[in-house]
Amino acid sequence: MAFAHLSAAKFAQEYDPRDGTGLLIIGKIGTGKTHLAVGITKELILSKGISCLFYDYRELLKEIQNSYNATVQTTELDVLRPVFEIDVLVLDELGAVKPNGVGLGHGEPDPEHALQRQPHDHHYDKF
Ligand SMILES: Nc1ncnc2c1ncn2[C@@H]1O[C@H](COP(=O)(O)OP(=O)(O)OP(=O)(O)O)[C@@H](O)[C@H]1O
Ligand SMILES: [Mg+2]
Repeated sequence: MAFAHLSAAKFAQEYDPRDGTGLLIIGKIGTGKTHLAVGITKELILSKGISCLFYDYRELLKEIQNSYNATVQTTELDVLRPVFEIDVLVLDELGAVKPNGVGLGHGEPDPEHALQRQPHDHHYDKF
């Protein structure tokens, strides 16, 4: 845990938005992944003025899925625009849903939860 904390602090200190390197935090349930991610996010916002967006991955998928509903005014692009425009995107609970994700949010949790921050290179489609 001390190592994870040090690594998180180093990542936040050295983070350069032009670099594009992300960070993947993995670990068992309740080991402090979200805590570390929030700490990094706060540091980036407060010390470096970098814009950050925190999303529960399942919530983002639900919002995208919901935008396909004809009775809903929001388009997929409306949901994704802030995600595209932000410098740092934090995706919490990334590994909490199975990739086939049918019935989002109801998948069996994976043994390891994961969190990935992906910079503005829009590669999250590879998830
Ligand atoms: N370094 C820390 N010091 C004090 N409390 C902590 C620390 N890290 C985590 N916690 C607390 O431990 C609990 C679990 O942490 P957290 O939610 O970050 O774990 P997680 O790995 O994201 O869990 P999950 O896999 O369920 O998403 C939370 O209540 C959090 O506030
Ligand atoms: Mg968590």
